[in-house]
Amino acid sequence: MKYLIANWKMNDVDVSNWLEDFLSLSLMNKSLEIKVCANLYDVKDIVDASLPENTIFKEPFWMAQDVSKNKEGAYTGQISSKLLNKIDAGCLIGHSELREESDTNEIVHLKGIRLKEEKVSPVLLCVGESLNILEANKREDFIREQLDSYFKDGLFPDIIAYEPLWAIGTGVSADKRNIEDAMSIISKFLEENDHKNLPILYGGSVSSKNIEEILSITSVSGCLVGNSSLDGKEFARIAKKF
Ligand code: 13P
Repeated sequence: MKYLIANWKMNDVDVSNWLEDFLSLSLMNKSLEIKVCANLYDVKDIVDASLPENTIFKEPFWMAQDVSKNKEGAYTGQISSKLLNKIDAGCLIGHSELREESDTNEIVHLKGIRLKEEKVSPVLLCVGESLNILEANKREDFIREQLDSYFKDGLFPDIIAYEPLWAIGTGVSADKRNIEDAMSIISKFLEENDHKNLPILYGGSVSSKNIEEILSITSVSGCLVGNSSLDGKEFARIAKKF
C-alpha cells in the first residue's frame, strides 16, 4: 500500500473547489491511500463534503494537523482527541513547524497518548532534522531520539513521515542519497522495535516534477505534501504518478 497525504497547513483552501479540481483528473489506483490534513475551521465543509464511491477514498479521508496534549477542559484554542474521534479524523503529530514553536519530544509523546486513548487513526508522526544537525553529522542520533521518545511505553504511530526541515517549503526536495540514508535510519529503528511494517513517507518540496524520482526509492511508501497539495489539480497530477 502507498500513501499520499496533503498538509494544507494554515492556508485557506476552498474544500468544494479543491475536491472538484482534484477529481477532474480521474484516479483509479487501488493501492494508493489519499488523505488530507485540513484546517479544522473548515470542519463543516469537511463533514459535509461528499466523497465519491471510489476505492481511492478510504475513510477517514480527513486528518487534523495537530491535537492537544490535554484531555479536555479550559484550554482555549486547542482541539481534543475526543473531537477528532467524533468527526472520524486521523491526525498528524510532531510536524517540525510545531516542534519549532513548542512541541518537545515529550509533548509529542503525550499527544500520541491522547490519540491512542480515543482510538484516533491513522496517526502520522513526523520526524526530521535541521540543516545544522545534518551538517554536524548528528542526524542519526537526532532522529533516533525523536523515535525513541515517541515509542516509549508501547506507543507507536500508524505511519511515519521523514521531513527534513531544510527541504520543507524551499522548492528543492532532499536528494535521493539523503532520503535513502534517512529511510534506512528509520527502518533500522523500526526493525529493532518490532514495527518493521510501518510505512515511511517522505515530505519536503514534493511536486509533480520530482515525485517519480522520489518514488523510485523503494523504501519510500509515499509522500506528505505541503505547497503542491493546495492546488487540487497539481495534487492529482502527483497522485497519478503512483
Ligand atoms: P512542502 O511540500 O511545502 O515543502 O511542505 C512539506 C510539509 O511540511 C508537509 O507536511
